[in-house]
Amino acid sequence: MNALVVEPGHAGSACITDVSIREEGVPVRVLEVGVCGTDREITHGLFGVAPDGEDRLVLGHEMIGVVERDGHGFARGDLVTATVRRSCGRCPACAQGSPDGCLTGDYLERGITRLHGFARELVGEDPAQLVAVPFELREIGVLVEPAADCVRALRHASAIGGRLPREVRRALVTGAGTIGTIVTCLLRLDGVEVVTASLEPSSPVVEATGAEYVATTRLSELGRFDLVVECAGDAHLTAAALRLLDRSGVACILGIDGRDQTVPVDGRTLGVDFVLENRVLFGSVNARRGDWDAAVSTLDSVRRRWPGALESLVALRVPLDRFDEALAFRGGKAALVLSE
Ligand code: BGC
Repeated sequence: MNALVVEPGHAGSACITDVSIREEGVPVRVLEVGVCGTDREITHGLFGVAPDGEDRLVLGHEMIGVVERDGHGFARGDLVTATVRRSCGRCPACAQGSPDGCLTGDYLERGITRLHGFARELVGEDPAQLVAVPFELREIGVLVEPAADCVRALRHASAIGGRLPREVRRALVTGAGTIGTIVTCLLRLDGVEVVTASLEPSSPVVEATGAEYVATTRLSELGRFDLVVECAGDAHLTAAALRLLDRSGVACILGIDGRDQTVPVDGRTLGVDFVLENRVLFGSVNARRGDWDAAVSTLDSVRRRWPGALESLVALRVPLDRFDEALAFRGGKAALVLSE
């Protein structure tokens, strides 16, 4: 079957090729695979690891698919997605169902690290890693994976912030790509006043939720926030956001910025305000199983509250062989269509 493969570490090696992969579990016919910044980094040779003993890695970790055969508690025709990160098999976090907090770093990730991804017609998946998706979410199925990461980040932010009596009334989201938009939706659903800052001139989805949309150049005029979520993948924005936290404020970094650079941080903000005002900065990656289930139900709530908004976020659909267009696309989520 055809698959989108790369040779990790080799920029420009992405191509469509015939693969034969033996996998146990539930057979799933892939409908669509979303493309994100991590896929771009892998195709640029900056990230990704092939399965042990192999040179190539099948890309794709944001999947929506259909179960092909009854079994393992699933019925033919069920709509599903699947988790990305899998246990290292030997640390307490993985043993407790939290490979998102793996302590050895020896985890596997579908389409990213030592485990083939979903950008192919058929996969076999461990039933324990499958997540049921209602048919109403078919059009936005590729958003479940990024949404799970967002749900996880906000869950951690509220656990960290919750160590002190406080309320989250006002939040700043930097970046209005897929992650920034989903975080904005989730916070607005919870009734939080949100300012979303981005370089782009506007975002109809963000505005539909009632969030305020501003240019990142205006950050210093916006006052202080109980929560900041950096989704742009810009370490300079993280540094700038540190000054914008209110008392007991929490800042979460969700966007990766792999540039080799030095970022200036205001010394008194870090050395004085962070201490005297109990502020926190933390990073968040991936999601555990419960976050996936929560992502499915939260996306459904977002869809009902702002009809059409998330649907418009999946802005480009192209067949597998046009993967270059999907990787280059910057106007929202791009998806590769594997079957109808
Ligand atoms: C994925 C995560 C993954 C991370 C690091 C992100 O793009 O959404 O599931 O853990 O990359 O590999």
